[in-house]
Order: sequence, then structure tokens, then C-alpha cells
Amino acid sequence: MQSVKIVEVGPRDGLQNEKQTVNAAVKLELIRRLADSGLSAIEAGAFVSPKWVPQMADSAEVLAALDLSGPIAYPVLVPNDKGLDAALAAGAREIAVFGAASESFSQKNINASIAESLQRFESVTRRALDAGLKVRGYVSCVVGCPYEGKIAPQKVADVAKALSELGCYEISLGDTIGVGTPASVREMLDAVLRALPAVRLAGHYHDTYGMAIANIRASLDAGLRVFDASVAGLGGCPYAKGASGNVATEDVAYLLAGEGYHTGIDLTKLVAASWHIADALGKAPASKLAHALGRQG
Ligand code: HMG
Ligand code: MG
Repeated sequence: MQSVKIVEVGPRDGLQNEKQTVNAAVKLELIRRLADSGLSAIEAGAFVSPKWVPQMADSAEVLAALDLSGPIAYPVLVPNDKGLDAALAAGAREIAVFGAASESFSQKNINASIAESLQRFESVTRRALDAGLKVRGYVSCVVGCPYEGKIAPQKVADVAKALSELGCYEISLGDTIGVGTPASVREMLDAVLRALPAVRLAGHYHDTYGMAIANIRASLDAGLRVFDASVAGLGGCPYAKGASGNVATEDVAYLLAGEGYHTGIDLTKLVAASWHIADALGKAPASKLAHALGRQG
């Protein structure tokens, strides 16, 4: 049986964009439940400017309560050297740098051009690798940009290749505003796969138009075996107006089980975690599965 890995990004990508800020204790209970449901990689926070993303300001407090040397990976976002200093001080074992294939999005999200961002990441990545950390890379706006519209697939391939050459072990391809369809995702992947093999790539699809599950199916056909997802479909992006949350982890896990892939995830526990965080936020889960199965546990 082939395996597919899900990288849970709800505690970071999900909660960074919820109107209601939740405290570290709520984040930690969510992370505990996600770990208990079998997820092996859970993005736990971001060492970014609290002025830009206040929801992630307590990331050091969250990391302090996690077992960072155990089998579960808890990556955190890092935009620059200052963020890396804080991540190292908090004991992070894995970081993710995040760039974009759109100049306008790069400016709005991290106040840097694409070239400037790659320069920043060069130092961040080198220092992190020297300290023994793993470094993942993100490319945002791989299909479309909220400011520029359609993004050329070759641009995505160029940024992905550049991040890979800096030492990122995996490049996560972000359809930040969820405009992709299987055809546009295939076109993007065709270009990226000419630059990097499928084993170095992950799909990170937001579900604004309800296409994320179809895009994952298309990406499986292209050879990808790692997907980012957010429990309960939480989240979006503060610098991408109208973007809805990531594809819901429980819907991805259901798809993968049905397609015969091993994920190691207990769907019942995952759905219970989905309802738990949705209740804490005073809303219903955005996933189909949470409603189909109802409250668990
Ligand atoms: P800047 O304003 O250009 O930074 O922001 P600066 O270097 O000029 O510094 C200004 C102030 O920020 C200074 O403080 C710095 O110390 C402080 P002051 O002197 O004014 O008191 N500062 C920091 N504080 C804490 N942590 C830091 C840090 N760096 C500087 N790391 C910066 C540049 C990159 C910091 C800012 O733009 C930022 O934090 N952006 C983060 C935006 C973000 O987190 N976006 C969401 C994540 S990306 C995403 O969601 C997409 C993804 O999911 C994939 C997809 O869906 O496509 C990954
Ligand atoms: Mg995202």
C-alpha cells in the first residue's frame, strides 16, 4: 500500500486568519488532538512580526509545551533572520521559509520583492541547516494572485527551483487563493516537474472555489505524495482577500483512504478534533466529513 503524508497546517495557516484569536492553551489542545489522530507533521506557529500577524505572537509559548525531539515534526514559519533567532531560541527543529511566484503578493505578504526574499532566505536557510534544522520552502500564488491574476507556471518553477537550491528539502506549492482547477494545477505542475522531481514537492491547496479535493486528485496523478491541509478547513491568508481556508484535513484523509493510500490517520479522532476547534471558534467545521460523521467522542 502506498503512503501519502498530510502536513497539518491548521494551528498556523488556519488560526492565523481566524477573526477570533485563540490563546496558547487552545492551540495546544488542538495540536494534542491532531497528534493523537495520527498526524506526523503539524505546523505549530510562525515567528513573524506580531504587527503583521498577531494570531501567531505566542508561537514560542506553544513550542515550549511541545515535545520537539519526539517523532512528530512541528515546523514553524520563519520570514527572516530575526524570525530564525526566535525559532532557534524556542527550540524549533524544523522551519519553513515562504516565498511567492507573484511580485505583488510577495510585497504585500513579506514586504520584499521575490529577489529580496530569496536573498533573505539564503541566510536563513544556511544558518538553519548549520544548526541541524530541516527547512521546508513554500511558494505562494502558484496558480493565481489576488493582485496580478493568472501566474505563469514557469515563474512558479523558477521560485521552487531557487528554494530547493537553497537547501529546502521539500517545496510546498500554495494555491493561496484557491482559484486552481485540475487543468490549471496540472499545467503548473507540468512546469515545476521539469525543474524538480515529484518527491521534492507538496500540494498546498486552499478551497475557495471547492476545487481543492479535485486538485489533490490531479496532483496524485502527477506523482505528488505530500499534501498540506487544515483541520475543519480553518484559515485563509491575511494578505489574500477573499481566500478561504485550506482544504480540510478530514476530507483529504477520507479521499486518500478511499483511493487506497495509507495515511496513518484515525478519521474518528480527526473529526472529533475538527468539532472541538470549531466549537472553540464558535463556528461549524468547513469540511464535508465532519458533517457527514457528526460529532465524535
Ligand atoms: P517589515 O516591516 O519589512 O520588517 O516586515 P522590518 O525588518 O522592517 O522590521 C520592522 C519591525 O518588525 C521591527 O520592529 C522588527 O524588529 C520587527 P520595531 O523596531 O518596529 O519594533 N520584526 C519582527 N518581529 C518579530 N518577528 C520577526 C520580525 N522581523 C521584523 N520575524 C516581515 C517584514 C517579514 C517581518 C513582515 O512582513 C512579516 O512578518 N510578514 C509575515 C506575513 C505572514 O506571516 N503571512 C502569512 C504567512 S504566508 C501564508 O499564509 C501562505 C502559505 O500558507 C502558503 C500559501 O497558502 O500560499 C505559507
Ligand atoms: Mg496557505
